Amino acid sequence: MSIKFNYLKKTINKPTGNVVLFSNEKFKTNELKKYLSNFEFSYINDLLKNTDYKKNLYIFELSSKRNIILVSIKKDLKISDIEKLGAEFFGRINIGDSKDYFIISDTINNKNNNFLSHFLHGAKLKSYVFKKYKTKKEKRDITLNITGNKNKPSIQNQIKFKALEEGTFYARDLVSEPGNVLHPDEYAKRLSSLKKDGLKINIYDEKKLKKMGMHALLGVGQGSIRGSYLVTMEWNGAKNKSSPLAFVGKGVCFDTGGYSLKPAKFMEDMTYDMAGSAAVVGLMKSLALRKAKINAIGVVGLVENMVSGNAQRPGDIVKSFSGKTIEVLNTDAEGRLVLADAITFTEKKYKPKFIIDLATLTGAIIVSLGSEYAGLFSNNDDLSKKIFNAGEKVDEKVWRMPLHKNYDKLMNSKNADMQNINYVGGAGSTTAAQFLQRFILNKTPWAHLDIAGMAFSKYGGALNSGGATGFGVRLLNELIEENYE
Ligand code: BES
Ligand code: MN
Ligand code: ZN
Repeated sequence: MSIKFNYLKKTINKPTGNVVLFSNEKFKTNELKKYLSNFEFSYINDLLKNTDYKKNLYIFELSSKRNIILVSIKKDLKISDIEKLGAEFFGRINIGDSKDYFIISDTINNKNNNFLSHFLHGAKLKSYVFKKYKTKKEKRDITLNITGNKNKPSIQNQIKFKALEEGTFYARDLVSEPGNVLHPDEYAKRLSSLKKDGLKINIYDEKKLKKMGMHALLGVGQGSIRGSYLVTMEWNGAKNKSSPLAFVGKGVCFDTGGYSLKPAKFMEDMTYDMAGSAAVVGLMKSLALRKAKINAIGVVGLVENMVSGNAQRPGDIVKSFSGKTIEVLNTDAEGRLVLADAITFTEKKYKPKFIIDLATLTGAIIVSLGSEYAGLFSNNDDLSKKIFNAGEKVDEKVWRMPLHKNYDKLMNSKNADMQNINYVGGAGSTTAAQFLQRFILNKTPWAHLDIAGMAFSKYGGALNSGGATGFGVRLLNELIEENYE
């Protein structure tokens, strides 16, 4: 299944074949007359007589080669509404054989000059499916020929949205891969191939990590026959040497829970426990593809949380890269151990403007927020507001949750500087965030996004057809575009 955009250089005034026309919210069609035959025009208007105007689009099948699609542009559409409209459009035409359509941009009447870019973006996002391991291939190609004199997406928009789509799809591909394929060795190898997009890639393997003292991260991966890695991706798109924006991702390729073993029902989904890292990777790819005029750095910790004779035990005490010691009371609270080292490393090495980390960190955030909002935890009001606003705009929403020193206290340990879980007090997502905050050593503005409920969608959402969502790529791109570029 694929959808292709074909921006026609020469305008076709009255295309035969399948056409997509836009009207106002009342399906008013007078201006569309010139694109239709007299018969078609009266036929459509006759059928529209009984509409309740609630629908967003109608498909009139006049013959196998002539479908007329009428999309109504309702009043006061937000950008995310336009994208959802495009997604709905795709859902409706994604049946039967391969088809070509002519989208007549002149029929668009909307105050948003980028209407068609967003509409097509929504259609594209919805079209993604992961069918790599289906041996029977379904082949349906949909080509959208965009024609007209007005409202055509600018070249800059074409480049930007394509970059966003490729970054999002790359993240979705990574998340969709099963644990036996995308283990840390394979993941690190794939990341090294991103050099071709202009990213500077640095891979720290186990030997290097040991030397650096990253024992919190290493402890999580020590039961796996695969390696553990920290991978950095640098994008230098600003002319000056301004301090970079930093994004850190949890890349637990599979989370069995370790000796604090997960029950089967909760374990089967844990191939997507690297979704935080995938969002960071997808974002970095998008930034490179659209040549964003900023400096950014992506850091991902890649491990596999397994059981074996060599795996970490509950009660083990490890020394983190920060120098702080951690009592690992529960080997299933592993994401924070990986992030702890990655966060301190990022702050120390890059002295970034801010650090945003993304992680499928706690089941508790799904209890709190379900699959509607990601949890946002931050030491900085300004950064929080900016992330919140970006989320509303692209419909990757976040909701701020509290941090407080009394929650922080719950993480103190008798035997080490801290422990990795708390047994009393509840607030599992907040205490996880408090744990992470201990690894920001120099007051760098920091935000943590717990995306456990957002990374994967069993039944599909407005802008995805089910499976990996790529949550975070468009959110963070919007944050950057709006505030830092
Ligand atoms: N990867 C899980 C969190 C998770 C759960 C993500 C469900 C997506 C869906 C994480 O490593 C984990 O196991 N967290 C524990 C923490 C607990 C042991 C303090 C949890 O949430 O149960
Ligand atoms: Mn876990
Ligand atoms: Zn996990």
